[in-house]
Amino acid sequence: MLSIIIFGGTGDLARKKLFRSLYNLYSKNILPPNVKIIGFARRDLNTESYRQFVSDELIGDFELRSEFLQTFYYFQGDLGTESSYHDLKTFLSELDDQYGVCASKLFYLSIRPELYDGVFDLLKKTQLLNTCTSDSTAWSRLLIEKPFGTNFEHAKFLDTKLSTVASEDQIFRIDHYLAKEALENILVFRFKNEIFRNAWNASFVSRIKIHMYETRGIDGRGEFYDEVGALRDVGQNHALQMLALILMNEPENFDGVHIRKNREDVLKTLTPAVCNEQNFERAQYVGYEDIITKSSSQTETFFKITLNTSMSQWNNVPFIIESGKKMAHDDTSIHVEFIDGSKIVFEISPIPRITFSFHVKESGYDYKTASRDLAFSYQENNMLVLDAYEKILYQAIAGDVTSFVTTHEVLEQWRIIDTILQQWTDLPLRKY
Ligand code: BG6
Repeated sequence: MLSIIIFGGTGDLARKKLFRSLYNLYSKNILPPNVKIIGFARRDLNTESYRQFVSDELIGDFELRSEFLQTFYYFQGDLGTESSYHDLKTFLSELDDQYGVCASKLFYLSIRPELYDGVFDLLKKTQLLNTCTSDSTAWSRLLIEKPFGTNFEHAKFLDTKLSTVASEDQIFRIDHYLAKEALENILVFRFKNEIFRNAWNASFVSRIKIHMYETRGIDGRGEFYDEVGALRDVGQNHALQMLALILMNEPENFDGVHIRKNREDVLKTLTPAVCNEQNFERAQYVGYEDIITKSSSQTETFFKITLNTSMSQWNNVPFIIESGKKMAHDDTSIHVEFIDGSKIVFEISPIPRITFSFHVKESGYDYKTASRDLAFSYQENNMLVLDAYEKILYQAIAGDVTSFVTTHEVLEQWRIIDTILQQWTDLPLRKY
């Protein structure tokens, strides 16, 4: 049996992503039989009203939905109060006893990151992860959302604490980008097609650009976002992980151990380029200050950063990352630009697609060349793009760590971002 305990069971992420992803897994018979999903939150609900709360977020076959809702339970408690953890532990034990099992337990921390510190303390104190030990095949795992910490020192502090709560193989640090089909495909494209392998270095590639442009703004997350800013929000994690997948060496095996090690090896080599207005930019969209309560803010909603690596095969190739909210169009993509003008683009969203732009001769009497595309998209091939959260849950239950970041990766990411944050304070904050 499996119990999934959602800390922050009435929160935004649970409503927008987790209920639906769990429903999809349930409808495909992927969740183990007798799964129980427990929402842990402060709101005044009970199991019956929580089931209704969950139901409001679901669409689909009525009977299946009703069956799915029966797997939900509500546990009202306070994340900051020790007795809530003791009571939750009793609640989980009783559920186990009712079925005469020691269920595996997946704890999903879908909570505000500033609460981690206190929650880790209470998890340790109450030994919630060790609710039962009678079945040696039952496991306990902890899923943790980003951002993990606010800088290198803070992340290290949290990590030291976390290591007293759970062992490294029980900890699943989420970067949902790593569970996106389009990102997983980067490794297959690079390493399963011999033709590109030899061209994947500084002798052929002139530049790599990553765009993360979103038309949406900060979606009611004003207070949180204003403390964080774009560079910490998506640069410290998603963007650096995309770059790691593009630059990393071929893993000895395509498994969690080797892929994570090679991502980590790339991150260790990355350093910011010289801090000037050509390599770095910070900007804020017009109207941003109207939605936060502070009267003026220096927080960036757009950034451009330039990085270099000490990996010899990428000598002198600049890596440019640009990300912004409220941009003119949605475009998350990675552009590998070759010296001869040809290009490979990995589009992550809105339409996951891989495009190779190459030279052809125009038809006609003269010898003129033009650029044309060869492309693969999931849509045109009727291939389903699974939601990243569905895969995160699937992989965490299966114990597959590939799409989760190690403590070393998190710290390396902060090392890079901290350096930039310290260096770029003199840059003007442009409006756009
Ligand atoms: C999140 C950021 O991690 O990623 C958001 O906090 C951002 O600000 C989001 O919008 C982008 O994810 P996706 O999957 O919508 O591209």
